Amino acid sequence: MSQAPTATSASSTTLPHWQTTPDDLPAAIREVKTALRARIEASGRTVEEVFAVVEERVRERVEEIAAALARGETIWPVIDYADIEAGTVSAEQRDRLRRRGCVVVRGHFPREQALGWDQDIVDYVESNRFFESYRGPGDDFFGSVGSRPEIYPIYWSPAQMQARQSEHMRRVQAFLNRQWTSESEGVQWFDPDRDSMYPDRIRRRPPGADSLGLGTHLDPGTLDLWMTRAYQQAFHHLFDGTVEQYDPWDAAHRTAGPQYPGSTMCSAFRTFQGWTALSDMDADQGVLHTVPIPEAMGYLMLRPLLADVAEDDMCGVTTNQVFPANETWHALLLQALSGIPDVKAGDSVWWHADMIHSVAPVTAQKGWGNVMYIPAAPWCPRNEEYSANVREAFLAGSSPSDFPEENYERTWGNRFAVEDLNATGRRGLGLA
Ligand SMILES: [Fe+2]
Repeated sequence: MSQAPTATSASSTTLPHWQTTPDDLPAAIREVKTALRARIEASGRTVEEVFAVVEERVRERVEEIAAALARGETIWPVIDYADIEAGTVSAEQRDRLRRRGCVVVRGHFPREQALGWDQDIVDYVESNRFFESYRGPGDDFFGSVGSRPEIYPIYWSPAQMQARQSEHMRRVQAFLNRQWTSESEGVQWFDPDRDSMYPDRIRRRPPGADSLGLGTHLDPGTLDLWMTRAYQQAFHHLFDGTVEQYDPWDAAHRTAGPQYPGSTMCSAFRTFQGWTALSDMDADQGVLHTVPIPEAMGYLMLRPLLADVAEDDMCGVTTNQVFPANETWHALLLQALSGIPDVKAGDSVWWHADMIHSVAPVTAQKGWGNVMYIPAAPWCPRNEEYSANVREAFLAGSSPSDFPEENYERTWGNRFAVEDLNATGRRGLGLA
């Protein structure tokens, strides 16, 4: 699928854009890079000057984080669920969350409830002979060890759905969504108080597991971040000489645009990616790391425009693969890579959906490493559109369309039923 580039009229310097994946990627990259540079230069600043502003802003943060890491400090902010529920999160805690772009919510669910859900998931898959029928990974996004998966392509267990529609989850998602600007330019870009229930999978990594982890990457998109009209508008401050005004928390133009399809795509707009711990996990057991600097997105977007990157290269970003962050182009950023602290079952972990993240390798893991992936994906045009597919998948017990078509649960009689939805669940699925 492709279409010819069309000129925008938003600026005196026009940008070509492609609403679907261009047929000739190298040619499109060359074309858009030339146009982005021209637009920057039309503002009277050079690409190097604009990049230097972002680099300086990010470097300050990197140095601050690297120094704190060297002192052995925990980088990730921690907020107690009880404070979110009571509305007693301090301004200082909020500032820290927004500065780092990530947070651990302590006691998001009672520990016993989380451990109970973990057991419920085991009972759910075993009662349906999942391990006997497991056909191997449906994609190569996550590795698996032996014949038992670590990532269960399971979406509709009672445990997952109970967590997704729970009052505790609703409160935390609304709190996190409110760290973003949801309304600007006279438009409400998303509804911070209504989640769209983005269904994702489960990870259960057993004691003794060896895992290579996952390299540093980010998930909001690939070439579409530079090439679609909506993203060009969303990131316009980076490209029109007003780089100082770039705000990673502004949702403007981010909640309605198209995504280039690919095996790693997320159709939904997420304010935060997240997961809920279903086991205790120590910080040295192959856990999540982030580069906890939301502004680093400006660096990632501008870096390919510098002269040392080949004209048809976006620092390795291409369609159908996750957006890589690497030592060649992003060495400065990777110095700030920071792991989560120890977490307990029932805690949840969240990071700004544009941020670089990775999963550390582990050998002979101590204890389980079990999580339910539940992000914050507030109701907006993009998520409303995807929710039509989610509803269909929920009612049929199918895999949602962002994931491989594995469809294990279609015949499982004890999956979560439509009658079990509460008001939050119905609203999330667009059934209200
Ligand atoms: Fe990811």
